[in-house]
Amino acid sequence: MGNSLTYPTHKFFKRLFSSIADRAASIIESARLAWETREDLAQTTRLYELSTEIISALTLEEAAGLVIEKVVEAAGAHSAVIKLLDKDGNLELALGPREPPPEPSGITMTVFRTGRPLTISNVEKAGRWVPPHLREQGIKSLIGLPLKAGGRTIGVLFVRYDRPHRFSDREIKLFSIYANQAAMAIERARLYEEAREALLSTIAALVQAAEAKDHYTRGHSERVTLYAMAIAEELKLPAEEIEALRQAGLLHDIGKIAVSDQILRKPNELSPEDWKAIRSHPQRGVEIIRPVPALRPLIPIILYHHERYNGKGYPKGLKGEEIPLGARILAVADAYEAMTANRPYRPAMSKEEAIEQLKKEAGKQFDPKVVAAFLRLLRKGLIQ
Ligand SMILES: [Fe+2]
Repeated sequence: MGNSLTYPTHKFFKRLFSSIADRAASIIESARLAWETREDLAQTTRLYELSTEIISALTLEEAAGLVIEKVVEAAGAHSAVIKLLDKDGNLELALGPREPPPEPSGITMTVFRTGRPLTISNVEKAGRWVPPHLREQGIKSLIGLPLKAGGRTIGVLFVRYDRPHRFSDREIKLFSIYANQAAMAIERARLYEEAREALLSTIAALVQAAEAKDHYTRGHSERVTLYAMAIAEELKLPAEEIEALRQAGLLHDIGKIAVSDQILRKPNELSPEDWKAIRSHPQRGVEIIRPVPALRPLIPIILYHHERYNGKGYPKGLKGEEIPLGARILAVADAYEAMTANRPYRPAMSKEEAIEQLKKEAGKQFDPKVVAAFLRLLRKGLIQ
């Protein structure tokens, strides 16, 4: 009986090992690819999150601040600076956390004109191209990115490191995506700011027209607005709602334009007809602002600013939380201002008397939470 056991040949082992080595290499390669994809995915997700955060900014200042804060945090950078075209078309508008001196115009202009990213991986070796103030601030490397919105370059974003850093193609690509989102957020905030300014001057003209009819309420709308916004801030309402209260505060009595001067200026007792006319002013106000689409969010605040928490107000007799919060806030602000101001039919109350009245009416005429917030503001001295 011979030994039938056969052993693999030397050649076989060689083939086996080489195949294992190939396989290992391919596993390592796919692991590396998977890792990179995962990294890319993580970074892309982070970028997406950043863009949704920065797009919510309502002012240019806020947008620039967020763009800078987020990129510095995400990239582990030393600082970031934004240079924007100003109204005259010059790249002079610098936005940054510490108002740093302007970036070198050579670098800024190159990025701006070419519309392409520019990197300096080591400031020490970059020679005269880099101005002294960067070295003084401890900047060792930087990337300049064009900010493009609506097909044109509106500025440049610089991200700066306090260590030499070679920017990989992938990093440059990611920074560029971020810069595009940043440019959109900045442009959007700038347009929003412009539109808001135009809107506020329209509002101011309307308010002047309304107040010109009634000397006793001059400045009333401004004071009501200040109170209402302070309450909204105290209640930590979102920025859009505070902004809506600014506009609604100014415009709440705009409907009085449609009420006869005779009634508004009557020094003595008002007849039931007079009251009916006066009580139509929220509805009249809504009719005035309805044609302006940008003012539509104010409609519920203006329409219901004379509703009462217990349902005994006008025009609808809404109750409690049925009344929009903005309107409940405006009601307290309006009442306090009215009580502490002289009126044709009665002299002003003292501050103490007005506070007593608010306390007495909390839960009846007014939302108790709103009254509590207002009293806190008075106590803190934030309202006089
Ligand atoms: Fe009113």
